[in-house]
Amino acid sequence: MSGSEDRRLILALDVYERERALEIAECTADYLWAVKVNWPLIIGSGLEIITELKQVTGLPIIADLKLADIPNTNRLIASKVFEAGADYIIAHGFVGSDSVDAVMGLGKTIIVVEMSHPGAKEFIQPATDKLIELANELEPFGVIAPATRPERVSYIRSKLKPGIKILTPGVGAQGGRAGDVLKAGADYIIVGRSIYASENPRKSARMLYAETLGV
Ligand code: XMP
Repeated sequence: MSGSEDRRLILALDVYERERALEIAECTADYLWAVKVNWPLIIGSGLEIITELKQVTGLPIIADLKLADIPNTNRLIASKVFEAGADYIIAHGFVGSDSVDAVMGLGKTIIVVEMSHPGAKEFIQPATDKLIELANELEPFGVIAPATRPERVSYIRSKLKPGIKILTPGVGAQGGRAGDVLKAGADYIIVGRSIYASENPRKSARMLYAETLGV
């Protein structure tokens, strides 16, 4: 295993229980760039889980709240989440630049420009070009794009300003493949069930990490 600068794997830790979350994070941390927490874990274990995960793993924490509210509410939520130790927050772009800007004013932000599930074709995909424009204007840390559609990741990469990272959920349980999406231009892959629901999360993380090397 090499240094953390080579790591391109993000664990989506979508379990409810605090102890299980800490155990999985600890045993996979060697292979991860960051840990992503979403509503299931925050609802099940409280916001303090962010602080605890940071202490246990020493890794950056991404809060995948997909914030989609008016600027004031986005700001109220994001300030508590950054205060708890989150390093990045994921926000929806379709609510408009003022709502995203409210989050960006508080810390590093990742904007959803397209989603990985089939229903993303109904409303989000038709708006992707405008969401990319928004990202190019605001220059967030990164954008979320679908690992389930590598051709869309290539397209998004071709339109996005250099320097803005592409993070891609959808590898494994949703059908995406690590090599394909990294070759298409993704910087990081986000993987949940294929790691946390496997019999041996450490081994699964190690195998995915190995897949990301040399792409
Ligand atoms: P699985 O178990 O499918 O988990 O590997 C994927 C994780 O990523 C989240 N997810 C998304 N987040 N845009 C996002 O911002 C997306 O298109 C998207 N698709 C999946 C999902 O909630 C889970 O935490």
